[in-house]
Amino acid sequence: VCAQFQAKTMQGLKILLTAGPTCEPIDPVRVITNRSSGKTGYALAQAAHEAGAQVTLISGPTNLPCPHGVTRLSVQTAQQMHSAVMKHANDSDIFIGVAAVADWRVANASSEKLKKTDGHPPHLEFVMNPDILAEVASLANGPWCVGFAAETSLAAKELQSKRQRKGVPILVANLAQQVMDTDHTTIHLVDETGMTALGTGHKLDVARQLMTEIVKRYRQHQA
Ligand code: CTP
Ligand code: CA
Repeated sequence: VCAQFQAKTMQGLKILLTAGPTCEPIDPVRVITNRSSGKTGYALAQAAHEAGAQVTLISGPTNLPCPHGVTRLSVQTAQQMHSAVMKHANDSDIFIGVAAVADWRVANASSEKLKKTDGHPPHLEFVMNPDILAEVASLANGPWCVGFAAETSLAAKELQSKRQRKGVPILVANLAQQVMDTDHTTIHLVDETGMTALGTGHKLDVARQLMTEIVKRYRQHQA
């Protein structure tokens, strides 16, 4: 662990993160979900803990062990993630939304298993899920917020408008096809000045680097 983490630069800070996918039921045996291993979010949670922060991780279903020293709350759906986050948001200094939250859920989810006996596919209706990041960012005395965006192409202009739409000072962007299902990542930082490449490497190393950058900017904002 490098020196800046041994220095416990985040001592006294409360960090709230979301990670992993959410799962939205169609019926008791079927779900709609997003592809997300949770590795980046868990690595950031670990990095924050190493730096001395008090870390709460609201996680969708993943196969990952909870990082040492981190408090994990497990959820399935976006609505569950939303209510868990809103319970902790006002008591946090920094919120980092890494989760791949399902944008919609099935409005007419069935309490019984759907059967194929009638020979045609079901008609699913969708409703929008709450936008957790945008809601936390709009809280009057809420935490300082960082968003993530996994895209299939990195267009600076579109990322800038996504950052503004969310109302967050920093949006961390990566290429979905480059980072999914691997232990490595490449991230770009979008702030009010534009987009800059931040780092490439193992997810834990990049997470430590990103956490250092986040804390630096958070402190500047506080000053
Ligand atoms: N996010 C969230 N709640 C949602 C959707 C997204 O908190 N219901 C958060 C994600 O955790 C991420 C950020 O918002 O930090 C950006 O997510 P993204 O899916 O890229 O943005 P959307 O606004 O949903 O845009 P789109 O999916 O159309 O690209
Ligand atoms: Ca989305």
